[in-house]
Amino acid sequence: MWGGRFAEGPSAVMRAINASIPFDKQMWRQDIAGSKAHVAMLAETGIVAREDADAITAGLEKVADDYAANGVSEDLALEDIHMLTEARLAEAIGTPAGRLHTARSRNDQVATDFRLWVRDAIDEANVALGALLDALIARAEEHADAVMPGFTHLQSAQPVTLGHHLMAYHDMVARDRSRFADARARLNRCPLGAAALAGTGFPIDREMTAAALGFDGPTTNSLDSVSDRDFAIEYLTSASQCALHLSRLAEEFVLWASQPFGFVSLSDQWSTGSSIMPQKRNPDAAELVRGHSGRIVGLMTGLMITMKGLPLAYSKDMQDDKPPVFECHGLLALSIAAMTGMVESATFRTDRMRGVAEAGFATATDLADWLVREAGLPFREAHHVTGRAVARAEALHVKLDALPIEELTAIDARIDARVYGVLTVDASVASRRSFGGTAPDRVRGAIAAARAAREAE
Ligand code: ARG
Repeated sequence: MWGGRFAEGPSAVMRAINASIPFDKQMWRQDIAGSKAHVAMLAETGIVAREDADAITAGLEKVADDYAANGVSEDLALEDIHMLTEARLAEAIGTPAGRLHTARSRNDQVATDFRLWVRDAIDEANVALGALLDALIARAEEHADAVMPGFTHLQSAQPVTLGHHLMAYHDMVARDRSRFADARARLNRCPLGAAALAGTGFPIDREMTAAALGFDGPTTNSLDSVSDRDFAIEYLTSASQCALHLSRLAEEFVLWASQPFGFVSLSDQWSTGSSIMPQKRNPDAAELVRGHSGRIVGLMTGLMITMKGLPLAYSKDMQDDKPPVFECHGLLALSIAAMTGMVESATFRTDRMRGVAEAGFATATDLADWLVREAGLPFREAHHVTGRAVARAEALHVKLDALPIEELTAIDARIDARVYGVLTVDASVASRRSFGGTAPDRVRGAIAAARAAREAE
Protein backbone atom coordinates (compact mmCIF):
# COMPACT_ATOMS: atom_id res chain seq x y z
CA MET A 1 0.00 0.00 0.00
CA TRP A 2 2.96 2.30 0.49
CA GLY A 3 5.76 0.47 -1.36
CA GLY A 4 6.28 3.07 -4.11
CA ARG A 5 9.33 4.73 -2.61
CA PHE A 6 10.97 1.54 -1.28
CA ALA A 7 13.35 -0.82 -3.06
CA GLU A 8 13.28 -3.54 -0.39
CA GLY A 9 10.52 -5.01 1.75
CA PRO A 10 10.53 -4.77 5.56
CA SER A 11 12.44 -7.26 7.71
CA ALA A 12 10.46 -9.99 9.41
CA VAL A 13 10.86 -8.29 12.79
CA MET A 14 9.77 -4.96 11.32
CA ARG A 15 6.67 -6.69 10.04
CA ALA A 16 5.99 -8.29 13.39
CA ILE A 17 6.40 -5.12 15.44
CA ASN A 18 4.46 -3.04 12.95
CA ALA A 19 1.45 -5.27 12.46
CA SER A 20 -1.72 -4.62 14.43
CA ILE A 21 -3.91 -7.05 12.50
CA PRO A 22 -3.70 -9.71 15.26
CA PHE A 23 -5.76 -7.43 17.49
CA ASP A 24 -7.35 -4.74 15.35
CA LYS A 25 -9.17 -7.34 13.28
CA GLN A 26 -11.73 -7.06 16.09
CA MET A 27 -12.68 -3.72 14.52
CA TRP A 28 -13.63 -5.10 11.12
CA ARG A 29 -17.31 -4.21 11.45
CA GLN A 30 -16.46 -0.63 12.37
CA ASP A 31 -13.93 -0.42 9.52
CA ILE A 32 -16.48 -1.58 6.97
CA ALA A 33 -19.11 0.82 8.34
CA GLY A 34 -16.64 3.73 8.22
CA SER A 35 -15.64 2.91 4.65
CA LYS A 36 -19.24 2.63 3.49
CA ALA A 37 -20.08 6.02 5.01
CA HIS A 38 -16.96 7.52 3.43
CA VAL A 39 -17.63 6.20 -0.07
CA ALA A 40 -21.29 7.25 0.05
CA MET A 41 -20.08 10.77 0.83
CA LEU A 42 -17.44 10.63 -1.94
CA ALA A 43 -20.22 9.80 -4.42
CA GLU A 44 -22.62 12.42 -3.08
CA THR A 45 -20.00 15.15 -3.35
CA GLY A 46 -18.94 14.01 -6.83
CA ILE A 47 -15.39 13.18 -5.71
CA VAL A 48 -15.83 9.59 -6.93
CA ALA A 49 -18.11 8.53 -9.77
CA ARG A 50 -21.38 6.96 -8.67
CA GLU A 51 -20.71 3.67 -10.45
CA ASP A 52 -17.31 3.26 -8.81
CA ALA A 53 -18.84 4.08 -5.44
CA ASP A 54 -21.57 1.50 -6.01
CA ALA A 55 -18.97 -1.11 -6.91
CA ILE A 56 -17.00 -0.23 -3.78
CA THR A 57 -20.10 -0.48 -1.56
CA ALA A 58 -21.07 -3.86 -3.02
CA GLY A 59 -17.46 -5.02 -2.67
CA LEU A 60 -17.29 -3.93 0.99
CA GLU A 61 -20.44 -5.92 1.66
CA LYS A 62 -18.86 -8.98 0.06
CA VAL A 63 -15.73 -8.57 2.18
CA ALA A 64 -17.88 -8.20 5.29
CA ASP A 65 -19.82 -11.37 4.45
CA ASP A 66 -16.55 -13.19 4.01
CA TYR A 67 -15.21 -11.92 7.36
CA ALA A 68 -18.44 -12.93 9.08
CA ALA A 69 -18.41 -16.40 7.52
CA ASN A 70 -14.71 -17.24 7.60
CA GLY A 71 -13.12 -14.92 10.13
CA VAL A 72 -10.43 -12.33 9.42
CA SER A 73 -7.08 -13.72 8.35
CA GLU A 74 -3.95 -12.43 10.05
CA ASP A 75 -1.74 -11.41 7.17
CA LEU A 76 1.12 -9.53 8.83
CA ALA A 77 2.29 -8.16 5.50
CA LEU A 78 -0.95 -6.22 5.28
CA GLU A 79 -0.31 -4.62 8.69
CA ASP A 80 -3.77 -3.81 9.88
CA ILE A 81 -7.50 -4.23 9.35
CA HIS A 82 -7.65 -1.13 7.19
CA MET A 83 -5.07 -2.39 4.68
CA LEU A 84 -6.43 -5.91 4.78
CA THR A 85 -9.95 -4.77 3.96
CA GLU A 86 -8.71 -2.61 1.11
CA ALA A 87 -6.67 -5.53 -0.26
CA ARG A 88 -9.69 -7.84 -0.03
CA LEU A 89 -11.79 -5.18 -1.73
CA ALA A 90 -9.29 -4.97 -4.57
CA GLU A 91 -9.46 -8.75 -4.96
CA ALA A 92 -13.24 -8.53 -5.09
CA ILE A 93 -13.77 -5.57 -7.46
CA GLY A 94 -10.44 -4.66 -9.02
CA THR A 95 -9.44 -1.10 -9.97
CA PRO A 96 -12.28 0.96 -8.41
CA ALA A 97 -11.12 -0.28 -4.98
CA GLY A 98 -8.19 2.14 -5.26
CA ARG A 99 -10.60 5.11 -5.14
CA LEU A 100 -11.92 4.34 -1.66
CA HIS A 101 -8.96 5.92 0.11
CA THR A 102 -9.46 9.29 -1.62
CA ALA A 103 -9.58 12.19 0.88
CA ARG A 104 -8.87 9.84 3.77
CA SER A 105 -5.87 8.60 5.73
CA ARG A 106 -5.51 5.63 7.99
CA ASN A 107 -5.06 8.20 10.75
CA ASP A 108 -8.61 9.52 10.61
CA GLN A 109 -9.86 6.09 9.59
CA VAL A 110 -8.47 4.34 12.66
CA ALA A 111 -9.59 7.15 14.96
CA THR A 112 -13.12 6.76 13.57
CA ASP A 113 -13.18 2.97 13.77
CA PHE A 114 -11.87 2.99 17.30
CA ARG A 115 -14.44 5.53 18.46
CA LEU A 116 -17.17 3.36 16.99
CA TRP A 117 -15.75 0.31 18.77
CA VAL A 118 -15.48 2.08 22.14
CA ARG A 119 -18.99 3.44 21.71
CA ASP A 120 -20.29 -0.11 21.31
CA ALA A 121 -18.26 -1.21 24.33
CA ILE A 122 -19.82 1.55 26.42
CA ASP A 123 -23.30 0.58 25.24
CA GLU A 124 -22.67 -3.05 26.18
CA ALA A 125 -21.34 -2.11 29.61
CA ASN A 126 -24.40 0.06 30.14
CA VAL A 127 -26.78 -2.81 29.41
CA ALA A 128 -24.82 -5.24 31.59
CA LEU A 129 -24.68 -2.76 34.47
CA GLY A 130 -28.44 -2.26 34.12
CA ALA A 131 -28.90 -5.98 34.79
CA LEU A 132 -26.66 -5.68 37.87
CA LEU A 133 -28.77 -2.75 39.10
CA ASP A 134 -31.92 -4.82 38.70
CA ALA A 135 -30.38 -7.70 40.65
CA LEU A 136 -29.31 -5.39 43.47
CA ILE A 137 -32.73 -3.74 43.61
CA ALA A 138 -34.53 -7.10 43.70
CA ARG A 139 -32.36 -8.51 46.49
CA ALA A 140 -32.55 -5.25 48.43
CA GLU A 141 -36.33 -5.34 48.28
CA GLU A 142 -36.35 -8.89 49.57
CA HIS A 143 -34.18 -7.84 52.52
CA ALA A 144 -35.37 -4.29 53.18
CA ASP A 145 -36.04 -5.18 56.85
CA ALA A 146 -33.21 -7.66 57.45
CA VAL A 147 -30.95 -6.30 60.17
CA MET A 148 -27.22 -6.70 59.83
CA PRO A 149 -24.28 -5.06 61.54
CA GLY A 150 -23.06 -1.93 59.80
CA PHE A 151 -19.31 -1.53 60.07
CA THR A 152 -16.73 1.18 60.33
CA HIS A 153 -13.10 0.04 60.60
CA LEU A 154 -14.68 -3.41 60.05
CA GLN A 155 -15.91 -3.16 63.67
CA SER A 156 -19.63 -3.40 64.44
CA ALA A 157 -20.78 0.20 64.38
CA GLN A 158 -24.56 0.58 64.08
CA PRO A 159 -27.19 -1.81 62.81
CA VAL A 160 -28.27 -1.30 59.22
CA THR A 161 -30.45 -3.38 56.93
CA LEU A 162 -29.13 -5.68 54.25
CA GLY A 163 -31.41 -3.89 51.81
CA HIS A 164 -29.70 -0.62 52.65
CA HIS A 165 -26.27 -2.18 52.23
CA LEU A 166 -27.17 -3.61 48.81
CA MET A 167 -28.65 -0.28 47.74
CA ALA A 168 -25.31 1.35 48.51
CA TYR A 169 -23.90 -0.74 45.65
CA HIS A 170 -26.87 0.24 43.53
CA ASP A 171 -25.89 3.88 43.93
CA MET A 172 -22.26 3.16 43.01
CA VAL A 173 -23.27 1.25 39.88
CA ALA A 174 -25.72 3.99 38.91
CA ARG A 175 -22.84 6.49 39.07
CA ASP A 176 -20.72 4.15 36.95
CA ARG A 177 -23.39 4.17 34.29
CA SER A 178 -23.64 7.94 34.32
CA ARG A 179 -19.86 8.13 34.02
CA PHE A 180 -19.99 5.90 30.93
CA ALA A 181 -22.82 8.04 29.56
CA ASP A 182 -20.73 11.20 30.02
CA ALA A 183 -17.78 9.57 28.28
CA ARG A 184 -20.05 8.49 25.43
CA ALA A 185 -21.40 12.01 24.93
CA ARG A 186 -17.88 13.45 24.59
CA LEU A 187 -16.74 10.54 22.40
CA ASN A 188 -19.56 10.96 19.93
CA ARG A 189 -17.85 13.29 17.43
CA CYS A 190 -16.53 12.00 14.15
CA PRO A 191 -12.85 12.47 13.21
CA LEU A 192 -13.33 11.15 9.67
CA GLY A 193 -12.23 13.80 7.18
CA ALA A 194 -9.33 15.09 9.27
CA ALA A 195 -7.30 12.96 6.85
CA ALA A 196 -3.64 12.49 7.80
CA LEU A 197 -3.49 15.54 10.07
CA ALA A 198 -4.26 18.73 8.16
CA GLY A 199 -7.63 18.13 6.54
CA THR A 200 -8.00 17.64 2.80
CA GLY A 201 -8.28 19.67 -0.38
CA PHE A 202 -11.17 17.52 -1.63
CA PRO A 203 -14.64 19.02 -1.15
CA ILE A 204 -15.75 16.43 1.41
CA ASP A 205 -18.85 16.65 3.58
CA ARG A 206 -17.89 15.79 7.13
CA GLU A 207 -21.40 16.37 8.47
CA MET A 208 -22.66 13.66 6.16
CA THR A 209 -20.21 10.96 7.25
CA ALA A 210 -20.65 11.92 10.92
CA ALA A 211 -24.43 11.56 10.66
CA ALA A 212 -24.21 8.29 8.73
CA LEU A 213 -22.13 6.77 11.52
CA GLY A 214 -24.41 7.98 14.31
CA PHE A 215 -22.13 10.73 15.57
CA ASP A 216 -23.49 14.05 16.81
CA GLY A 217 -21.26 15.89 14.34
CA PRO A 218 -17.64 16.13 13.18
CA THR A 219 -14.68 16.91 15.44
CA THR A 220 -13.47 20.48 15.04
CA ASN A 221 -9.66 20.38 14.73
CA SER A 222 -7.93 18.05 12.31
CA LEU A 223 -4.74 17.74 14.38
CA ASP A 224 -6.67 16.93 17.53
CA SER A 225 -8.92 14.55 15.60
CA VAL A 226 -6.13 12.18 14.68
CA SER A 227 -4.10 12.50 17.87
CA ASP A 228 -6.86 12.43 20.46
CA ARG A 229 -7.38 9.25 22.46
CA ASP A 230 -9.24 10.86 25.35
CA PHE A 231 -12.26 8.76 24.50
CA ALA A 232 -10.28 5.56 25.02
CA ILE A 233 -8.78 6.86 28.27
CA GLU A 234 -12.18 7.99 29.50
CA TYR A 235 -13.55 4.56 28.72
CA LEU A 236 -10.72 3.03 30.74
CA THR A 237 -11.10 5.45 33.66
CA SER A 238 -14.86 4.86 33.74
CA ALA A 239 -14.23 1.12 33.57
CA SER A 240 -11.63 1.38 36.33
CA GLN A 241 -13.99 3.22 38.65
CA CYS A 242 -16.64 0.62 37.92
CA ALA A 243 -14.16 -2.22 38.48
CA LEU A 244 -13.25 -0.72 41.86
CA HIS A 245 -16.89 -0.88 42.89
CA LEU A 246 -17.24 -4.44 41.64
CA SER A 247 -14.08 -5.30 43.54
CA ARG A 248 -15.44 -3.90 46.79
CA LEU A 249 -18.65 -5.88 46.35
CA ALA A 250 -16.58 -8.97 45.50
CA GLU A 251 -14.47 -8.43 48.60
CA GLU A 252 -17.61 -8.32 50.73
CA PHE A 253 -18.75 -11.60 49.22
CA VAL A 254 -15.36 -13.18 49.96
CA LEU A 255 -15.47 -11.91 53.52
CA TRP A 256 -19.12 -12.73 54.08
CA ALA A 257 -18.72 -16.24 52.65
CA SER A 258 -15.93 -17.01 55.13
CA GLN A 259 -16.82 -19.20 58.13
CA PRO A 260 -16.16 -16.51 60.79
CA PHE A 261 -18.60 -14.16 59.05
CA GLY A 262 -21.05 -16.67 57.60
CA PHE A 263 -23.24 -13.88 56.21
CA VAL A 264 -23.69 -15.39 52.76
CA SER A 265 -23.58 -18.70 51.07
CA LEU A 266 -22.78 -18.59 47.39
CA SER A 267 -24.75 -20.85 45.10
CA ASP A 268 -23.05 -23.91 43.66
CA GLN A 269 -22.88 -22.16 40.32
CA TRP A 270 -20.64 -19.49 41.80
CA SER A 271 -18.44 -21.65 44.01
CA THR A 272 -15.52 -23.93 43.36
CA GLY A 273 -14.18 -26.86 45.32
CA SER A 274 -10.70 -27.73 46.47
CA SER A 275 -8.80 -30.68 45.07
CA ILE A 276 -7.50 -31.58 48.54
CA MET A 277 -9.94 -30.17 51.12
CA PRO A 278 -13.34 -31.72 50.48
CA GLN A 279 -15.22 -29.30 52.75
CA LYS A 280 -14.24 -26.22 50.74
CA ARG A 281 -16.58 -23.92 48.85
CA ASN A 282 -14.36 -21.23 47.49
CA PRO A 283 -15.56 -17.88 46.19
CA ASP A 284 -13.16 -17.93 43.23
CA ALA A 285 -15.31 -15.80 40.94
CA ALA A 286 -15.50 -13.02 43.54
CA GLU A 287 -11.75 -13.23 44.06
CA LEU A 288 -11.16 -12.97 40.32
CA VAL A 289 -13.43 -9.94 40.05
CA ARG A 290 -11.29 -8.38 42.80
CA GLY A 291 -8.18 -9.43 40.88
CA HIS A 292 -9.43 -8.22 37.51
CA SER A 293 -9.97 -4.74 38.92
CA GLY A 294 -6.22 -4.49 39.41
CA ARG A 295 -5.60 -5.47 35.82
CA ILE A 296 -8.16 -2.95 34.58
CA VAL A 297 -6.51 -0.12 36.49
CA GLY A 298 -3.20 -1.28 35.03
CA LEU A 299 -4.62 -1.07 31.50
CA MET A 300 -5.84 2.46 32.20
CA THR A 301 -2.46 3.65 33.48
CA GLY A 302 -0.77 1.86 30.58
CA LEU A 303 -2.62 3.86 27.95
CA MET A 304 -2.19 7.11 29.86
CA ILE A 305 1.55 6.54 29.88
CA THR A 306 1.57 5.63 26.19
CA MET A 307 -0.11 8.94 25.38
CA LYS A 308 1.55 11.33 27.77
CA GLY A 309 4.64 12.33 25.80
CA LEU A 310 3.38 12.20 22.24
CA PRO A 311 3.80 15.30 20.08
CA LEU A 312 0.99 16.14 17.67
CA ALA A 313 -0.29 14.55 15.60
CA TYR A 314 -0.37 10.78 14.99
CA SER A 315 2.53 8.60 16.15
CA LYS A 316 2.65 4.85 15.78
CA ASP A 317 2.78 4.50 19.56
CA MET A 318 -0.93 5.13 19.30
CA GLN A 319 -1.46 1.75 17.69
CA ASP A 320 -0.91 0.45 21.22
CA ASP A 321 -4.18 2.10 22.27
CA LYS A 322 -6.30 -0.86 21.24
CA PRO A 323 -5.03 -3.88 23.21
CA PRO A 324 -5.69 -2.30 26.64
CA VAL A 325 -9.18 -1.20 25.63
CA PHE A 326 -10.05 -4.57 24.10
CA GLU A 327 -8.70 -6.43 27.12
CA CYS A 328 -10.51 -4.14 29.52
CA HIS A 329 -13.79 -4.70 27.74
CA GLY A 330 -13.49 -8.47 28.12
CA LEU A 331 -12.44 -8.30 31.77
CA LEU A 332 -15.15 -5.83 32.66
CA ALA A 333 -17.89 -7.79 30.88
CA LEU A 334 -16.93 -10.94 32.79
CA SER A 335 -16.70 -9.07 36.08
CA ILE A 336 -20.12 -7.46 35.72
CA ALA A 337 -21.74 -10.73 34.66
CA ALA A 338 -20.11 -12.63 37.52
CA MET A 339 -21.21 -10.13 40.17
CA THR A 340 -24.72 -10.06 38.72
CA GLY A 341 -24.93 -13.84 38.91
CA MET A 342 -23.60 -13.91 42.46
CA VAL A 343 -25.99 -11.21 43.65
CA GLU A 344 -28.95 -12.94 42.01
CA SER A 345 -28.23 -16.38 43.43
CA ALA A 346 -26.60 -15.80 46.83
CA THR A 347 -28.34 -16.97 49.97
CA PHE A 348 -28.02 -14.27 52.60
CA ARG A 349 -27.82 -15.68 56.14
CA THR A 350 -29.98 -13.00 57.72
CA ASP A 351 -30.35 -14.90 61.02
CA ARG A 352 -26.60 -14.89 61.41
CA MET A 353 -26.34 -11.20 60.42
CA ARG A 354 -28.94 -10.30 63.03
CA GLY A 355 -27.14 -12.32 65.68
CA VAL A 356 -23.85 -10.55 65.01
CA ALA A 357 -25.57 -7.15 64.99
CA GLU A 358 -27.12 -7.90 68.38
CA ALA A 359 -23.89 -9.21 69.85
CA GLY A 360 -21.78 -6.24 68.85
CA PHE A 361 -23.32 -3.55 71.13
CA ALA A 362 -24.30 -1.88 67.88
CA THR A 363 -27.12 0.06 69.57
CA ALA A 364 -24.73 1.95 71.87
CA THR A 365 -25.26 5.13 69.85
CA ASP A 366 -29.01 4.72 70.34
CA LEU A 367 -28.50 4.65 74.11
CA ALA A 368 -26.36 7.78 73.96
CA ASP A 369 -28.92 9.53 71.73
CA TRP A 370 -31.70 8.54 74.17
CA LEU A 371 -29.76 10.07 77.09
CA VAL A 372 -29.46 13.30 75.13
CA ARG A 373 -33.09 13.32 74.03
CA GLU A 374 -34.88 12.02 77.13
CA ALA A 375 -32.53 12.89 80.02
CA GLY A 376 -31.06 16.12 78.67
CA LEU A 377 -27.40 15.05 78.88
CA PRO A 378 -24.82 16.75 76.64
CA PHE A 379 -23.77 14.23 73.95
CA ARG A 380 -20.20 13.95 75.26
CA GLU A 381 -21.44 12.99 78.71
CA ALA A 382 -23.99 10.60 77.21
CA HIS A 383 -21.17 9.00 75.23
CA HIS A 384 -19.23 8.42 78.46
CA VAL A 385 -22.23 6.96 80.33
CA THR A 386 -22.95 4.66 77.39
CA GLY A 387 -19.34 3.51 77.31
CA ARG A 388 -19.68 2.41 80.92
CA ALA A 389 -22.91 0.58 80.13
CA VAL A 390 -21.21 -1.27 77.26
CA ALA A 391 -18.30 -2.22 79.52
CA ARG A 392 -20.77 -3.55 82.12
CA ALA A 393 -22.70 -5.57 79.53
CA GLU A 394 -19.45 -6.99 78.24
CA ALA A 395 -18.40 -7.98 81.76
CA LEU A 396 -21.75 -9.70 82.35
CA HIS A 397 -21.69 -11.32 78.86
CA VAL A 398 -25.09 -9.91 77.92
CA LYS A 399 -26.43 -7.78 75.08
CA LEU A 400 -27.06 -4.13 75.81
CA ASP A 401 -30.84 -4.59 75.80
CA ALA A 402 -30.47 -7.45 78.33
CA LEU A 403 -28.70 -5.33 80.97
CA PRO A 404 -31.02 -5.22 84.04
CA ILE A 405 -32.42 -1.78 84.84
CA GLU A 406 -30.61 -1.72 88.23
CA GLU A 407 -27.31 -2.05 86.37
CA LEU A 408 -28.22 0.90 84.15
CA THR A 409 -29.49 3.15 86.93
CA ALA A 410 -26.37 2.33 88.96
CA ILE A 411 -24.34 3.84 86.12
CA ASP A 412 -26.59 6.87 85.79
CA ALA A 413 -29.71 7.52 87.82
CA ARG A 414 -31.31 9.47 84.99
CA ILE A 415 -31.87 6.26 83.00
CA ASP A 416 -35.30 4.61 83.27
CA ALA A 417 -37.02 1.58 81.77
CA ARG A 418 -38.24 3.48 78.70
CA VAL A 419 -34.68 3.13 77.40
CA TYR A 420 -35.34 -0.49 76.39
CA GLY A 421 -37.53 0.88 73.62
CA VAL A 422 -34.43 2.01 71.73
CA LEU A 423 -31.95 -0.73 72.57
CA THR A 424 -33.08 -3.41 70.14
CA VAL A 425 -31.55 -3.55 66.68
CA ASP A 426 -34.98 -3.26 65.08
CA ALA A 427 -35.78 -0.10 67.03
CA SER A 428 -32.37 1.24 66.07
CA VAL A 429 -32.77 0.80 62.31
CA ALA A 430 -36.40 1.97 62.43
CA SER A 431 -35.27 5.21 64.06
CA ARG A 432 -32.76 6.10 61.31
CA ARG A 433 -35.40 7.85 59.28
CA SER A 434 -33.36 10.74 57.93
CA PHE A 435 -33.27 10.98 54.13
CA GLY A 436 -30.84 8.34 52.86
CA GLY A 437 -30.97 6.51 56.20
CA THR A 438 -31.36 2.80 56.89
CA ALA A 439 -34.94 2.78 58.26
CA PRO A 440 -36.81 0.09 56.28
CA ASP A 441 -39.35 2.65 55.04
CA ARG A 442 -36.55 4.81 53.71
CA VAL A 443 -34.93 1.80 52.07
CA ARG A 444 -38.24 0.95 50.41
CA GLY A 445 -38.46 4.55 49.22
CA ALA A 446 -34.96 4.32 47.73
CA ILE A 447 -35.88 1.05 46.02
CA ALA A 448 -39.05 2.59 44.55
CA ALA A 449 -37.03 5.55 43.24
CA ALA A 450 -34.43 3.20 41.74
CA ARG A 451 -37.10 1.16 40.00
CA ALA A 452 -38.78 4.28 38.66
CA ALA A 453 -35.42 5.48 37.28
CA ARG A 454 -34.90 2.14 35.53
CA GLU A 455 -38.36 2.26 34.04
CA ALA A 456 -37.84 5.83 32.83
CA GLU A 457 -34.70 4.88 30.88
N1 ARG B 1 -2.76 0.38 12.47
C1 ARG B 1 -2.63 1.78 12.72
C2 ARG B 1 -3.12 2.10 14.14
O1 ARG B 1 -3.74 1.28 14.71
C3 ARG B 1 -3.40 2.56 11.73
C4 ARG B 1 -2.89 3.94 11.49
C5 ARG B 1 -1.64 3.91 10.70
N2 ARG B 1 -1.25 5.20 10.30
C6 ARG B 1 -0.04 5.45 9.88
N3 ARG B 1 0.26 6.65 9.56
N4 ARG B 1 0.87 4.49 9.77
O2 ARG B 1 -2.84 3.11 14.68
